[in-house]
Amino acid sequence: MYTSTKSRNVLVIVPSTRPGRRGPVVSDWFTSSVAGRASELQVRCTVADLAEIGLPFLDEPEEPSTGRYVHEHTRRWSELVEGSDAFVVCTPEYNHAMPAALKNAFDALSAEWAHKPVAFVSYGNTSAGTRAAQMAKSVAVTLGMVPVSATVNLRIADSFAGEGLVADPRRDASAVRILDELHELAGLLDALRVPGRTRVDGAGPAGLTIAPARDVDAGELLVLQRCCWVDEALANTTLDIHALHEPLDVVLRGIREQATWVVRDGARIVGAVRAQSRGTTWEIGRLMVAPDHRGRGLGRYLLSWAENQAPKGTERFELFTGAMSTRNLRLYGRAGYHHESTSAGVAHLVKAVARGTEPVAA
Ligand SMILES: Cc1cc2nc3c(=O)[nH]c(=O)nc-3n(C[C@H](O)[C@H](O)[C@H](O)COP(=O)(O)O)c2cc1C
Repeated sequence: MYTSTKSRNVLVIVPSTRPGRRGPVVSDWFTSSVAGRASELQVRCTVADLAEIGLPFLDEPEEPSTGRYVHEHTRRWSELVEGSDAFVVCTPEYNHAMPAALKNAFDALSAEWAHKPVAFVSYGNTSAGTRAAQMAKSVAVTLGMVPVSATVNLRIADSFAGEGLVADPRRDASAVRILDELHELAGLLDALRVPGRTRVDGAGPAGLTIAPARDVDAGELLVLQRCCWVDEALANTTLDIHALHEPLDVVLRGIREQATWVVRDGARIVGAVRAQSRGTTWEIGRLMVAPDHRGRGLGRYLLSWAENQAPKGTERFELFTGAMSTRNLRLYGRAGYHHESTSAGVAHLVKAVARGTEPVAA
C-alpha cells in the first residue's frame, strides 16, 4: 500500500438536519471505529454537522466556480472543505434521493472539492440508503471528487437498536477499510492538488502545467534529474557531475532553498528548472526535460520561464553546462547566452538583461 507520511484531514459530513435524526449516531460510529487507525495514519477526522453549520440555501450572487463569496457562512464552509483532504458522507435516504441539505452543501462550493477522495456511508429503510449514496456519488464526481470503492450501507431495521447501532465487527472493519482507501487515494491525488499551477502554452503536448515544486516532489525530481544527467555524463564522457549523484536530502534542500518549478504531464513530472539570486545575478540551473518530451520547445520554455521569474534589479542571467553538451549549448546560444569561460569541463554562460526588459517579478 502507498503510505504517505503527511498528516491528513478527513471531513465527516452529516447532512441530516431534522430533530431526532439518526445522522450523529452514524457519524459517531464511523469516527470511533476508525479512531485507532486514524492515529496510526496521522489522520484527523472532523465532523461537519450541517444542522449546526446551518448553511442557507444558495445565496451567493456569483457562481461558486468563481471562488468569490460575499457571505461569511460560505467563506467558513469553503475554508473547512478546502482544508480537508478527503470526505466521508454519512447520508440518509429521503424519497430515493440525497437530503436537500447535502446537495446544497455540495453546490455552495466548487474547486474546494476537487481532486479529493470521497466515501459514502448510507442508511435508510429497504435500500439501506444506497439510492441516496449513488445519487450523491454522481454529484461528487461532477465536482471532481474521486469515490473510493469501500462503502457501508446500513439497513435501519437490522442496524439500529435503541439510541445506537447494533455491534458488528465486520462493519467496523469496513469503516477502517474506508479510511485506508481514502488515505491512500489522497496521497495519489496530491499531484493534482497543486497550488499555483499554470498551463504551459506553446511547448510540448497540450495539457502540460507548471507550478512551484513542493517537498513531496523531491523523489520524482531526483529520478528525473538522474535520468537527464546520464545524458550529460555520456555527452561529456565523465561521471564526475554533481547532479548525477545528489541524494534525496540534497534535492529536497534545493527545492526549499531555491525557487524551483516543475512541469507536469498529468501527474507526472516531465521537466524542471530552478534559480536563485546572487547580488544582481539570477543563477539558473537544473534545467531538465524528460527524454520523451524533448524536441518540442520545453527546454526553451523552461529557460524563458526561469528568466521571467527573476527579481527586480537583476542585471544578468547565468548558468553552467557541460563543455561538450552540444544540445544545451545550442539551446542557450539561441536564447542569447554567450560563453564566458570553461573550467574543468564546465562551460559558464551569461546573458545581460536587455535595457527596458528588466524583470519585474517581486
Ligand atoms: C422525508 C423522508 C423521506 C424518506 N424517504 C425514504 C426513502 O426514500 N427510502 C428509505 O429507505 N428511507 C426513507 N426515509 C427513512 C429515513 O431513511 C430514515 O428516517 C432515516 O433515519 C433518516 O435519516 P435521519 O434520521 O438522519 O434524518 C425517509 C425519511 C424522511 C424523513
